[in-house]
Amino acid sequence: MFLLRLSRREFLQSVSSAATIAALPAGLFSACSVSSKAAGPPSSAAAFTNAPARQVAASSEIPFPNNFFWGTATASYQIEGAWNEDGKGESIWDRFAHAPGKIKNRDTGDIACDSFHRWREDIALMRAMNLNSYRFSISWPRIQPSGSGPANAKGIDYYSRLVDALLEARIRPFVTLYHWDLPQALEDAGGWPHRDTADRFADYVQLVAGALGDRVSDWMLFNEPSAFTDLGYLEGTHAPGRQSLLDFLRATHTVNLAQGAGFRALKAARPLARVGTAFNMSACEPASNSEEDKLAAERAHAITNVWFLEPGLKGRYPQAFTFLPETTMGIKAGDMEKVRAPLDFIGINLYYRTIASAPRAMERLAHAQQWLFPVKMVGGEQGPRTDIGWEVWPQALYDVVMRISRDYNRPVIEITESGCAYNDVPEAKGVIADGRRIGYHRQYLAAVARAIADGADVRGYHAWSLIDNFEWAEGFSQRFGLAYVDFKTQKRTIKESGRWYAKVAAQSALAAERVGSGL
Ligand code: FCB
Repeated sequence: MFLLRLSRREFLQSVSSAATIAALPAGLFSACSVSSKAAGPPSSAAAFTNAPARQVAASSEIPFPNNFFWGTATASYQIEGAWNEDGKGESIWDRFAHAPGKIKNRDTGDIACDSFHRWREDIALMRAMNLNSYRFSISWPRIQPSGSGPANAKGIDYYSRLVDALLEARIRPFVTLYHWDLPQALEDAGGWPHRDTADRFADYVQLVAGALGDRVSDWMLFNEPSAFTDLGYLEGTHAPGRQSLLDFLRATHTVNLAQGAGFRALKAARPLARVGTAFNMSACEPASNSEEDKLAAERAHAITNVWFLEPGLKGRYPQAFTFLPETTMGIKAGDMEKVRAPLDFIGINLYYRTIASAPRAMERLAHAQQWLFPVKMVGGEQGPRTDIGWEVWPQALYDVVMRISRDYNRPVIEITESGCAYNDVPEAKGVIADGRRIGYHRQYLAAVARAIADGADVRGYHAWSLIDNFEWAEGFSQRFGLAYVDFKTQKRTIKESGRWYAKVAAQSALAAERVGSGL
């Protein structure tokens, strides 16, 4: 989504101001109330051991903690297909992908990886990779076809079977409740900018917690709230394709209300559940040492990384804008209590870094809206690029994990996504030699290990993705998988990176091997 996020940056660049910029108060991101270590039973990684007894790491290895979760991540719309089977309702992604011109090559998720029928094969891949955690998402319109009312039993059955089979395979089911496929009926009723959607979300969470919460104990309420509100309501490059500053601002507030309401609904149904959100984060670096650029980088951090974390943990919005547009966002009296969600862990999705700078006064004057968010954001350009164009910059993961650890009193962290698009295809003998992907994960994992050694409490790493899949507006043009999917036959083949990851997971350590050297 780099292109998309670039265009996001372009919008944000277009927000300018001639107004004086107030300095951020010192300590804005200091200690907080995250209750991660207090709530819920102790980490249950030991129950999900697929690796042989942990070997003592040789001195040349980079070891990970005992009981580290080695996982992969996927999302319902990106892998399931079966878009109208077994009573599933239409989602905003079904509608968006069916409209002409929205997705590269006119691809859709109608079939995707057909995981709705082939989930057993997916679990077999995870077993072959020695994994002990699987982050997947639940399709809301499979559970509530029109976004409200009782659960569709066939939808529940699908996930119930999946959860049972994962537990059987000693793989932790790590469940995301919302990874972007809103029931279309709720979009028709106003979508995320409409406050009532928060209550609908809490009802849905309650249904799922009731049905699966006896076996699932680790949940994420949302995937990347700042990405889907931005891309879906401001830029319009993702479903539902709206382009409105007002809708975007309102959507962010409704999602914060939904995070609070969903958290309470889940805890009410399952008091011992561990509940977090997977936030998209990026290391936001100032383009220069000037005070203006440093302030711009703080604003970038506020909107990208903590716009949905700060309300949850501290009951307030961080200072991203020159002022908080409360009325425009639809903030009502009492809302800042309702948005509170003392998350048990913080999920971090991180792919790259962001370089932030302050627009010049003339630039700000050029666009009426720029006074609200006087920041220009671009991707870094020093590191190598993946096939989708994102810069490889492992230090970004270290920096963000350390900052979140510092600012939020050493919370439990899960790396809920990191990965790379490299479009390697099978060679003559069917081998998929994706050494660059091995290099990527090796470096990002080394950054995680360094953060742990420096005091961060990171419990797991989930490579995006288990299998090549439908990459949103990019369609099937970008392959992120540790296993290759032939989309004509749906045949899955573990890539060299998947074989390498299997070894890392089995040993719970990174061997000191040459980057890109394969096994
Ligand atoms: C993340 C999304 C995920 C996938 C990866 C490449 O932002 O959460 O669904 O598209 O990017």
